[in-house]
Order: sequence, then structure tokens, then C-alpha cells
Amino acid sequence: MCSIIGYKGKNFAAPILVDSLKKMEYRGYDSVGVATFDNGGIMVRKGTGKVLEVNKNLAISEMAGKIGIGHTRWATHGGVTDKNAHPHSACKNNIAVVHNGIIENYKELKEELTVAGHTFASETDSEVIAHLLEVHHGKGVRDAMIQTCKRLKGNYAFVAVFQDGTIAGARYEEPLIIGVANDGYFISSDVLGFLQYTDKAVFLENGDICIVDNSKLEVFNFEGTPVAHPITQVAWELGDIEKGKYAHHTLKEINEQKITVVHAGRQDEEIISKFCDLLANAKSVYITGSGTSYHSALIFKYMLAKFAKIRAETVMSSESQYALASIEGDSVLVAISQSGETADVLDSVKLAKNQGAKILLIVNVTTSSLARISDAFLSTNCGPEIGVAATKSFTGQLALIYNITDRLCKGCLATARAEFAVAIENVIASQASVMRVAEQMKDCTDIYLLGRSIHYPIALEGALKLKELAYVHAEGIAAGELKHGPLALMEKNTFVIMLNPHDPTFGDTISNAHEIKARGATVIGISDRKDDVYDHWIEIPQLKEESFYPIVEVIPLQMLAYQLALAKNADPDYPRNLAKSVTVR
Ligand code: G6P
Repeated sequence: MCSIIGYKGKNFAAPILVDSLKKMEYRGYDSVGVATFDNGGIMVRKGTGKVLEVNKNLAISEMAGKIGIGHTRWATHGGVTDKNAHPHSACKNNIAVVHNGIIENYKELKEELTVAGHTFASETDSEVIAHLLEVHHGKGVRDAMIQTCKRLKGNYAFVAVFQDGTIAGARYEEPLIIGVANDGYFISSDVLGFLQYTDKAVFLENGDICIVDNSKLEVFNFEGTPVAHPITQVAWELGDIEKGKYAHHTLKEINEQKITVVHAGRQDEEIISKFCDLLANAKSVYITGSGTSYHSALIFKYMLAKFAKIRAETVMSSESQYALASIEGDSVLVAISQSGETADVLDSVKLAKNQGAKILLIVNVTTSSLARISDAFLSTNCGPEIGVAATKSFTGQLALIYNITDRLCKGCLATARAEFAVAIENVIASQASVMRVAEQMKDCTDIYLLGRSIHYPIALEGALKLKELAYVHAEGIAAGELKHGPLALMEKNTFVIMLNPHDPTFGDTISNAHEIKARGATVIGISDRKDDVYDHWIEIPQLKEESFYPIVEVIPLQMLAYQLALAKNADPDYPRNLAKSVTVR
């Protein structure tokens, strides 16, 4: 949600921190702040807005000092105001803190601290951390960190800078990673925060505290016992997080799909075999995910049933505490997540694991918390996805799901998989019809997307993209449900997108299109076959294997949502109120 970064090294901290925050801005982007330590004092500059804007207004990158911490915020407790922006300082301005997560017992801590004479400057839960550190600072930074962590309930990762120039971090249920460079250390919520400077990382575990003091790193747990973690080499190429020739990350990522689906299909033989064996031998299979990743779960369920004769149950991760409350020990839970950090997905995994289930993971960020606790994971290999709305990670998940299914059905999809890349290239190249439709739809207020069978998850995914990017009311509906209610909504100003390739669902969906058109709504067909009932036709390539249509259907919907966002002057990369990685419940 929020991004946090700390730096202590031989270079000036502020420009490095600003640069890191810019790279992690997709995690949350309503306010920005930095604190640096110089000449025995801590300075703080912070305000609302995006990184470059706040930096321009407050000249953050010109702050002195070679030690500092920084933050971009996604508000949870307290409105989007300058005062609520991090870092938060303790009363004597001797400590400043940046935090990601939620401190659940902040009200009682705040009350206790207020009675003890502390004054609070913000409405946030995070500020209690700075005051607690101040209370416990008498015996030094180490003790302050341990005692503070023992008082906090909830989930958190925080980094603090102290008046002696020490920086320290702690994690509990939120990610925190140390970057080890030749000339200093980073403490960050994301490898992207330091990948430009070093590819050497130490992944802190839950309940770890780290201190960077006099250029040396110390890691210990909440009991003060030293813990040792290996230094891992992080593999991602930095170039991948630049926009290149594209106006937005989202546009770049939509275009990249012709390559990323191919990469997602390439897997290490041994790992994918282990993954498939565990899946095939499970007594019960559950599949979970949030948002876009949940839509992949729906498609996975369909593929497993049709080609591998494996029955699976899909569970929205946010519902798992009810749906997975009692499962057999020899079950498998397949978790799907781009980030590998979504709190709801982590909760599902822990719940299933505690009941003895094996955890299989489909993930893009292989250094993530979910990857670390799964029994086997497969990477979608898409490279960093920066646009908040998932695009290439979704089609990457689908390509990987097709690969897994192909193994389980002993190669029954192999020939058809070869046509993917060309089909995607064709869809991406033919944007003219999408542009025309976007022009027609730019002022519309209600969009319905209809599809049957494997196209229904794409109706849901298309609706999600339209909501996220274009801020328009959009609903995905199982086409057969039209007569059971939604038909009442069809009138002159409604737009209905039919997901209707020429497969066994075609005839029934065309009938729905006629029913809708008769009520005056505008019908848009996404199909490989033209039909007179469509007011507008978005052509997609014909595929030999109908189960692969979801990939070529979703791309025009991603492009449509992107175009409608532009028409509304919305920033497609950073939709209002949303964060890419939702690490709070
Ligand atoms: C957030 C994002 C969505 C994403 C969902 C799941 O809500 O805004 O775009 O689909 O989280 O994220 P994950 O990283 O677990 O796939």
C-alpha cells in the first residue's frame, strides 16, 4: 500500500530517496515525505501529491545528509493532508518514522501516550510508533525497537531514523527488504526501491528487526536474539520499470503482452512437474486470489475441469476466512497473485496451511512473502508491472494456467498454444476499432459486459478494468442471467459489450444481443465473427482452441479502459483511491 525506504551510506540520501519513492509510487501515491539526518538533527519535508510534484514544491531532493527515510502514502487512518503524510516525528523531534500497514491498537496507545504528556500532530495510527520509540529510547535504539514492537498490534513494516544517525526497521506481516550496496544500506518495502543501486538483498522475516549503525547491519528478532539471513541476488532488469517510448506504464504493459505471454509459458521442468503432481494428487483443490487474480482463478477452475478432470473450488481471498474455515488436510490451495503481497491472499494461505493443506502459488514477484511460504511456486515471468490495473500479469497468469493444464492433460493443448503469440500480436496491432468504440462511449455512465462459460470471467475482468481506469459504472454479467434481472436496465443510453467468439456459446449470446438491442441499448460485439446485431464490432482473431479466447478478448477491453481513462483526463497508471499492492485488510 504505502512504500517505505531508508538509506544510510556514503552518498547524499535525499536524491536517492526521491528516486526510490518514484519507482515505488505505484504502491500508494496520495502524499510523500522524507526525513534526513544531518549535523546532529533530523529534518522533515512532506506534503500531499505525487512524488515529483511534492519534490518540486518542497525541494526534497536538496535536503542535506547521507542518512534518511522516505514514504509514499495510501491513506487508511486520517485524511489526505500534509500533517498525515509520513514521516511522523516524536515530540522532541529526535526520531522520525515511516510506516506501512495498520496499527490496530493505536487508539489505546495514543490515549496512554497522551496521558503521559505526548502531543500528536496527525490523525494517523502510524504516529504512535514514533512516540513509543521515544518512550523506550533511554536504553538505546536496540531496546527502543524491541520494546516498541512488543507494544504494537496489527500489521506493520516501519523504518525509523534516530538522532544519533542510526536507521532501524521492523516487520510484522508487511514486507521489508534490505538492499546491500557497496557504499551503504537500504531498507525498503520493495526491491524496486533499491534495484537501481544494488541487486543484493536480505529478505527480513516476520518478527525481524534490523539496525544500520556505523555502516554495519544487525538483524535480530523481537526477543533480541540475532538472526542470520542469506544475501540473495535479485534478478530483475532495471530497464523494465521505465516507460520507454510509451505515454504510460499501462500502455507499455498492454503492448508487452505479446512477449510476456510467451515468457509465462516457459517454466523449469522440475518445478512445474512438482507443481502438477501436487495438484493432481490432492484430495480437494481450492483456488484463491483477489481482484484480477481471482478472475484468473475462475478460468483455472474451468480449465482443470474440462481438460484435467480435476474439480476445484474457487474462493475470493477476502471471503476465505468463511469459505476455507474447515478443509481437509490433504487439500491443495492454489493462490494466484501478481504481487505476492496481497493481505487477503496471505490470510487465505495461512488459514489453509494451518489446516495442513499444501500451498501452490502462481506469482509474478518471486521474491514476495507468498513465494516464501508456498510449497511450490511458478512465476508468470512478466517483469515488473507498474500500472496499478493488472494487464500483462493477468494474461501471464492465463498463459501459465494453460501450460499447467496442458501438462495435466498430457499435452492435449500443445498444438493450439503455438498460435497464441501471433493472435495477441494481431489484436494489439488492430486498435482502430477500439478507438472508434471509445469515442462513442466516452460520455457513457453504464456499461454491461456479458459472456457465458469461460467468457464470463472476462466480462468480470473487463468491468474491473473499466471501473479502475475509467471510473465508469461497469458490470460483468453471466449472459444467461440477463433475463433474470439485468434486462430491466437496458435502455437507450446503456452500452453492452458481448464477449462472443464463434464457439458453442455463440448462438445463445447472439440471442441475448437481440434482446438487448430491442430495448434500445448499444451493442458492441467482441468476436471473430461479424453479426448484424452489433452496432460496433471489435474483431478478434479466430482460434483453434476456444479455451484460449479469454486472452485475445481481454486485450481490447484493457485498451478500451485505457482510452476511456484518457478521455476523462484520468491518469491510467495511478487510478484514484487504489493501490497496486493491497497489504492491509
Ligand atoms: C489490488 C489491485 C488489483 C489486483 C489485486 C490483487 O486490488 O488494485 O489490480 O488485481 O490487488 O493483487 P495481486 O497482486 O494479489 O494479484
